[in-house]
Amino acid sequence: MTLTSDPLFSVDGKVVIISGAGSGFGRTIALALAERGASVGVLDITQKAAEETTALITSAGGRAITLVADTRDPELVEKCVQDVIAKFGVPQIVVASAGIGRRSPAIEMTSQTWQDVIDVNLNGAWNLAQATGRAMITTNTQGSIIFISSIAALVGLPNGNANYSASKGAVHALMRTLAIEWATKGVRVNAIAPTHFRTPLIVASIKENPEGEAFFKANIPMGRMGEPEEIVGSIIYLASQASSMVTGTVLVVDGGHTAR
Ligand SMILES: NC(=O)c1ccc[n+]([C@@H]2O[C@H](COP(=O)([O-])OP(=O)(O)OC[C@H]3O[C@@H](n4cnc5c(N)ncnc54)[C@H](O)[C@@H]3O)[C@@H](O)[C@H]2O)c1
Repeated sequence: MTLTSDPLFSVDGKVVIISGAGSGFGRTIALALAERGASVGVLDITQKAAEETTALITSAGGRAITLVADTRDPELVEKCVQDVIAKFGVPQIVVASAGIGRRSPAIEMTSQTWQDVIDVNLNGAWNLAQATGRAMITTNTQGSIIFISSIAALVGLPNGNANYSASKGAVHALMRTLAIEWATKGVRVNAIAPTHFRTPLIVASIKENPEGEAFFKANIPMGRMGEPEEIVGSIIYLASQASSMVTGTVLVVDGGHTAR
């Protein structure tokens, strides 16, 4: 059994663009899809991080292009999409993973802290979905757009997550609307809602607040946090023919967190 032998779950030969691909989920997904034969647009705001991901892919024999952009800027995102089209073709798989957290108790949260998180997590995801959806639809390309949302969109989180939870809830609403608008145009749109995973984002948060880890584990019935590689199966499912009738849905990857 090779990595690409089952056509139902194949991403071989697909063109992919992933935001936030310089770290965490985005990098893990970029490596996993490239390993399975996809050509990957590695988009990140941090040039060095994006270049590292690209180098990891190409040194293993895969295909990737580095794209440096702040996803908050629709023109820069559009330029990235055009760069991918020029190099590999119209994207067929899109993963909007770029995201940030800026925690603050609600009554102390500044308008800047609120806005920063909404701008990246919601507006940035929208910019990528709009640019790639447009490219797919105007070229009659079948595609799958996947938003990395969060269980924060589904259950309340303590500890100053008003901005984060609101941004992710809005991503679910956006995802459902695009799924319906594009349902007959060959573009499926879904979200993956992870619980706490051990990515650099969460490792930094635990470093800042060491009790955080016990809290995370206590809320996850499996009794442990996710490891970044554990997101890959859900991505392959939503990206491939295996989910050809699936659109407008949230796939929860949470060790039971939201089942409680
Ligand atoms: N790690 C978790 O436990 C967890 C849980 C639920 C949801 N998520 C979501 O998963 C996604 C990825 O998170 P992660 O844990 O991999 O974080 P991470 O910090 O490891 O990676 C995020 C990447 O996004 C990039 N980025 C940030 N702002 C950007 C911008 N404006 N434009 C382009 N790139 C930008 C960063 O440079 C970084 O490389 C986020 O949307 C996050 O909200 C994470």
